Amino acid sequence: MSVFTDSSAGLDLLKSRYDQEGHCVLPYRFSDESVDLLRRRVAEISSQTRPEVVHEKDSALVRAIHGCHEFDEVCAALVSHPTLVRIAEGLIGGPVYVYQFKVNLKQAREGAAWPWHQDYAFWREEDGMERPDAVNIAIPLDDVHEDNGPLLVVPGSHTLGLFDLPERSEENSDWRQHVSNDLAYTVSTERAERLIAERGKAWILGRAGSLHAFHPSIVHSSSNNSSEDRRALLLITYNAVDNAPRNPVRPDFLVGRDTRPIQPRDDHRLVLDPQ
Ligand code: SIN
Ligand code: MN
Repeated sequence: MSVFTDSSAGLDLLKSRYDQEGHCVLPYRFSDESVDLLRRRVAEISSQTRPEVVHEKDSALVRAIHGCHEFDEVCAALVSHPTLVRIAEGLIGGPVYVYQFKVNLKQAREGAAWPWHQDYAFWREEDGMERPDAVNIAIPLDDVHEDNGPLLVVPGSHTLGLFDLPERSEENSDWRQHVSNDLAYTVSTERAERLIAERGKAWILGRAGSLHAFHPSIVHSSSNNSSEDRRALLLITYNAVDNAPRNPVRPDFLVGRDTRPIQPRDDHRLVLDPQ
């Protein structure tokens, strides 16, 4: 039975783990049929020519797709799923809206790494988000194991502020440098190694359809995918409604402009089972 069933006690427990560690497993999993449906939508969107679809460097392979909840009705239903909304509201402590939606595809053999970084560095420096009162909900669309480029996090690092921020420049502000392998705001490898020596590290692994939450300030990375298995990871960022940036300039597929509280809505095609 889910720890959330019938009470807020389970959610309180998760919140205390999330607050302390900066990440936690969420005790739910989308059904295989739901994952299949999402994979089909991702394949269809990936085949389109549009700015939301980003490719690996000098390659025709799709690296990521963005903002899909704005134009795809299955993705729109996903972000409104009542359980996801309830979890996000519980972890953040108030009404939320969708700040960002993306699927990082990490294609088999060629999907490139994400260097060490903190998401909040981008959101504060580029968008003017005042506080890190947001949460990433990660949903793998493929089974994630140690060899297909899982997310690696440094537990507790979300409490330490932002590291190694460069001066803002024209170059940093090119949004393509916020979604490529050559990231604009990184945490240095030496810093990450020091943090790991102090605090350890944790891989975010799991079956397709499982759920994990991680904090905007947690130090994280993921390696190249040299395995034969794709590692598609769907990420929804919910932000507190009262923390919406005032004048964002990046494209709306990277910074959601509809900051009204999201209305929970059931969709029979997306079945989330307690684990
Ligand atoms: C990844 O998909 O491995 C990186 C995701 C992230 O940095 O948020
Ligand atoms: Mn990130």
